[in-house]
Amino acid sequence: MAATARTSPLRMPAKIAAANLTCDLDLSQDELLGLLDLTKQLKANPSRYARALSGRYISLLFEKPSLRTRMTFELAIKQLGGDSILNDGPIGAREPLKDVARNLDRWTNAIVARTFSQQTINDLAHWSSVPVVNALSDLYHPCQALADIFTLQERFDDLRGLRLAFVGDGNNVAHSLMLTSARLGIHFSLACPSGYEPNPDVVRQAEGLAEVSGATVTITNNPSQAVDGANAVYTDVWASMGQESEKETRLTIFAPYQVNEDLFAQADSNAVFMHCLPAKRGEEVTDGVIESPQSVVFDQAENRLHVQKALLLMLI
Ligand code: CP
Ligand code: NVA
Repeated sequence: MAATARTSPLRMPAKIAAANLTCDLDLSQDELLGLLDLTKQLKANPSRYARALSGRYISLLFEKPSLRTRMTFELAIKQLGGDSILNDGPIGAREPLKDVARNLDRWTNAIVARTFSQQTINDLAHWSSVPVVNALSDLYHPCQALADIFTLQERFDDLRGLRLAFVGDGNNVAHSLMLTSARLGIHFSLACPSGYEPNPDVVRQAEGLAEVSGATVTITNNPSQAVDGANAVYTDVWASMGQESEKETRLTIFAPYQVNEDLFAQADSNAVFMHCLPAKRGEEVTDGVIESPQSVVFDQAENRLHVQKALLLMLI
């Protein structure tokens, strides 16, 4: 009689000690590396752990619109055998945030929240007895950075010593990428117009991490300087959600920071183009660059799903 086929279990890293992902640094270095390893295994075996979240429910709170984050979290939860319930609208407007958190933790096993303010994420994590995941705030977008770093690892294998250039606004996406890059030994350079630099506290934190990993963190107003010889060139919208009233002013100020064919040509000849999406073609990036064979934007979007499955398995 043929032996029963057995599949070996995935290498599962330890549960995340912080119990939340409010910002990138909630993950320790080992947890981050373990999460990238588990993501790789899950991407290769998408149906593994199909019942891991059976009987588990997750609250999705969205104060801002979303395509990728909301749908990849819903799909990730379903692929792991769980289910989600959604509330979109302001959090804590109708009743105190601390009461919202203490309702949701009685009904569901985790809270995934996209908020205007980072303080809302921190308060949810403080009051809730179940894990809270930051699905984008004004300050960070940690799930995006995890998918981006995983995408870089797929392309280049060894992350240490890579050069990642971010051109545009010193925003939430830039902050999370800067912190995660600095910690993993990726040289990070950011070019932005004067007055749109990243948060100085986040830069200081990234510089501290870079000292340990051997990476560098460079902030400049010169896009050519940032992109010169880079392995990856990343940009994001010039006006983030909540900054719509500044859009016209920003269009003028950021015009010299467009990632177009000329700027992208200054990167390494094998460089990849990255964007968290949604993208505004003709503003922060030209159609030619985002549609070029060197663009990995849809790999990044796909990897949101795999990395969030790994994250949910490690958190819950
Ligand atoms: N990149 C990203 O977070 O996309 P959404 O705003 O569509 O979720
Ligand atoms: N910086 C953008 C990212 C969108 C995914 C924003 O906050 O709107």
